[in-house]
Amino acid sequence: MRVGRMLLVLVVALAGGGLAGVPPAARAQAVQVQSSEAEAEAEAGQRVGYDAYSVMVGGRRVLVQAAEFHYFRLPSPELWRDILEKEKAVGFNAVSVYFDWAFHSPAPGVYDFGGVRDVDRLLRTAAQVGLYVIARPGPYINAETSGGGFPGWLKLVPGRARSSAPGYTAAYREWLGQINPIIARHQVTRGGPVLLYNVENEYAVNTDAAYMQDLQDVARADGIDVPITTNLCCDAASWTSTWASGDGAVQIPGVDDYPQSFDCGNAATVWGAWGAGITERVREDAPVFAAEYQAGAIDVNNAGYQACRELTGVAYTRYFPKSNLIAGGATAFSHYMGFGGTNWGWLAQPNDVYTSYDYGAAITEARQLTAKYDEYKRQGYFLHAVAGSLTRTDPVAAPAAAGLETLARANPDDGAQFVLVRNPGTAAVSSSLGWGRYAFPVTLPGHDAKVLVGGYALGGQRLVASTSELLTHEAIGGRDVAVLHGGQGTPGATVLRYPSRPRVTVLEGRVASVFDAASGDLRLDYKHSGLARVLIDGGGRRPLLLLLGTAAAAASFWRADTAAGPVLVRGTALLRSATATPGAVALRADTAAAGPVEVFAVGRAVTVDGVPVATRRTPSGSLLGRLPGPRPVVLPALTGWRQRAEAPEAAPGFDDSGWTVAGKTTSLSPFVPLTQPVLFSDEYGFHTGSVWYRGRFTATGAETSVSLNAITGKRGNYLVWLNGRYLGSAAGGVQADSDAPANPSPGAGEFAVPDGLLKPGAPAVLSVLVQNMGHNDDWTADDNRFRQPRGLVGARVNGSAAPVTWRIQGTAAIDPVRGALNNGGLYGERAGWTLPGYADHSWPWAGAAQGPGVTWLRTAFSLDLPKGQDTSVVLRFDGAPPAGYRAILYLNGWQLGQYGAAIGPQTDFVLPAGPLRHNGRNTLAIAVIATERSVAATPVLAVAGRDSRE
Ligand code: GAL
Repeated sequence: MRVGRMLLVLVVALAGGGLAGVPPAARAQAVQVQSSEAEAEAEAGQRVGYDAYSVMVGGRRVLVQAAEFHYFRLPSPELWRDILEKEKAVGFNAVSVYFDWAFHSPAPGVYDFGGVRDVDRLLRTAAQVGLYVIARPGPYINAETSGGGFPGWLKLVPGRARSSAPGYTAAYREWLGQINPIIARHQVTRGGPVLLYNVENEYAVNTDAAYMQDLQDVARADGIDVPITTNLCCDAASWTSTWASGDGAVQIPGVDDYPQSFDCGNAATVWGAWGAGITERVREDAPVFAAEYQAGAIDVNNAGYQACRELTGVAYTRYFPKSNLIAGGATAFSHYMGFGGTNWGWLAQPNDVYTSYDYGAAITEARQLTAKYDEYKRQGYFLHAVAGSLTRTDPVAAPAAAGLETLARANPDDGAQFVLVRNPGTAAVSSSLGWGRYAFPVTLPGHDAKVLVGGYALGGQRLVASTSELLTHEAIGGRDVAVLHGGQGTPGATVLRYPSRPRVTVLEGRVASVFDAASGDLRLDYKHSGLARVLIDGGGRRPLLLLLGTAAAAASFWRADTAAGPVLVRGTALLRSATATPGAVALRADTAAAGPVEVFAVGRAVTVDGVPVATRRTPSGSLLGRLPGPRPVVLPALTGWRQRAEAPEAAPGFDDSGWTVAGKTTSLSPFVPLTQPVLFSDEYGFHTGSVWYRGRFTATGAETSVSLNAITGKRGNYLVWLNGRYLGSAAGGVQADSDAPANPSPGAGEFAVPDGLLKPGAPAVLSVLVQNMGHNDDWTADDNRFRQPRGLVGARVNGSAAPVTWRIQGTAAIDPVRGALNNGGLYGERAGWTLPGYADHSWPWAGAAQGPGVTWLRTAFSLDLPKGQDTSVVLRFDGAPPAGYRAILYLNGWQLGQYGAAIGPQTDFVLPAGPLRHNGRNTLAIAVIATERSVAATPVLAVAGRDSRE
């Protein structure tokens, strides 16, 4: 049995009184709020400006390091804080957030911002955590969301989407009228976290400047007063406008870069398949903004997200973003995705993704940290440390190293140099870097890169140059603590300058030092191995504790700011935040196992959850103690499954009189219906999930076959019954291409009418169950993709000219808690079989073969997980996904996944806390839609790994 991470509250008690008398919780809260960078600024309500170098807040330059996060892909507001804290802990200072129109609006004029849609709470949480927000309300967002964020009902609104057509204009103004005021009141200028406001998304073809301008005019009228940005996609050659000038121009045009492509299946060989990943400067008077920088990939080839994580793994992350920093000069960027999350319900645009939107991101869908997270932390802390200098640099001549590529930038004011040394080849290169008067040995593995710093004011020190990368430097208790790192076993050299000879004490490791009295340079030479510790004292400067480690040792550090200065911590699996007063510093940290903890702070003693922990002072001046690991987690076996077949809609006598008559003859879709009437489900208000059709006709006895055609989006199918007899199934059409209207036969199925089934003159009923997998995106802004229908697009009874009258039924009622995208129109969904309260005790025990058709499985289980400990639970199926059926998974009524070979390779389904009651009773319901007789597999509960470090 594996156990989850443990959330600990660790308190370092300090000398002095401070907030004595204030309850600890309130004290912690008060200080935490003050200590948060973004929030402190926000309280003052500061102006957000920018110039060619960087964004500025209250006149101070800010290096914007963001990770993309989609609240709508984590249906658990309480876990939003977990993700935001993890993004903060990695060193980022911002999150980039799409707001998904479709997620909030089930129907024209109807908007929901409560519960899992409470974006006000999201923005408040971001402020509390201390992160800026890049707000991206679209209206078009793409993001592999159904309709690219367009609600299904927009298909019925006339006027080309993403244009200034009046119908569309009225619709998007309705959305912006809802979302803008929420965003506006959370802007940095008004005491909130929203730093930038992004309009549209990769708006590159079929552009309409009046529309682009109106989005901004509306935003301004709604009170948006932070800089407006947009994100251009990827290849400058395809841009019809850069939105840098003229009508529709934005203040800071950004660019999206996906250098590794989405070819996860070939992760081992892909290297820069889609370019060098150097973000273009689009406007001379605005900073270089990497609006989406690849940090994972969609799993377009069903390779599994672990392969996507490898495609965009540590090697990629060390090379491409670092190159972009120095070659591109980007001072604002967002990693897409920081955490991908889950396409729960019918949130997905089905042609590119399945339930999981893990994305191979640094934080997994199950919220676990990966080796990639460590690499982001190494870069995130570095950028946090050097932001003051790096936010204003120009290209300069770089020091050279034979066999390696070098590029450099320097700050014209303080002279700080940032040198990129990279190895574009696949074999390791050992060379000599001629930097100033020095020749430093450097070794770089293939496809690796370093950003080195020289001429830099490192706290109270003068760093001449170093071939180790800087993790961070902090002023703690009257001295500087700096962490530098390099590859295991590679040479490192660091030169510091002093007015006079300092005392050098090597506390740990092997480090040689030479002082040159003429220049004042102290040169340290070493091999990166473990963590060497050097104390440098005197020499006319305040003391410096230099920690020289491997990349792994560097990643073991955590930093946080407190009102009493920064804190460095080693030995925890995560440091969420720190608070400090003259009386105490409190660390909120996770552990994955029992082990040591080392704290560099001004403290004298350590307590955990208010309980003192024995510590000793180390020669490094830190406090060393031990923390317990998480408590064991015991998950119950899932037993007692009950089973019930349904699909009464297939029976001829089923009463469909309450269903909607499908009799329309026209539609706004460019897809011409193959037969009349128009059976597109959206036309009748059914935009989500399963849809039933019943067609009635009077039989002649001469019927030979039924020709059907359905468009479902990728991964969809449909099942057909005639007079209650199952005729078979077919795959639904995809129709994702712009030229799709030309395709006359997207999802054709031909079904023979069995002899003797239809009696001349007798009524006959054709029942069809169609899986609508979600709506196409509108990437091409031409309506062709987005307005492609869902559901039946053609139906003909061959051998008969008798008219067929149709009725349609989809989602019965919108779930007021889980929202419009949660349920489709299966009988069980309409009858509440997904819900915890449904009484299934009369159902037979599961196990018997069922189908073809729809069968439900239900069971319940109780959990009592350790409190105060973060356990991530998944539902796990064994073996390869089945081909004969698909399963839709509901936890306590929340539709959290779809499983089956036709859907994708996914076998683990995350059950987030919130929908999952960690201390209480839970109900699982599974709708099995089988195309052949089968015994559906039942899943088990599992913990998603207590330590995901690779
Ligand atoms: C970008 C787009 C994002 C997302 C991404 C792929 O081009 O702006 O919304 O779709 O591609 O995951």
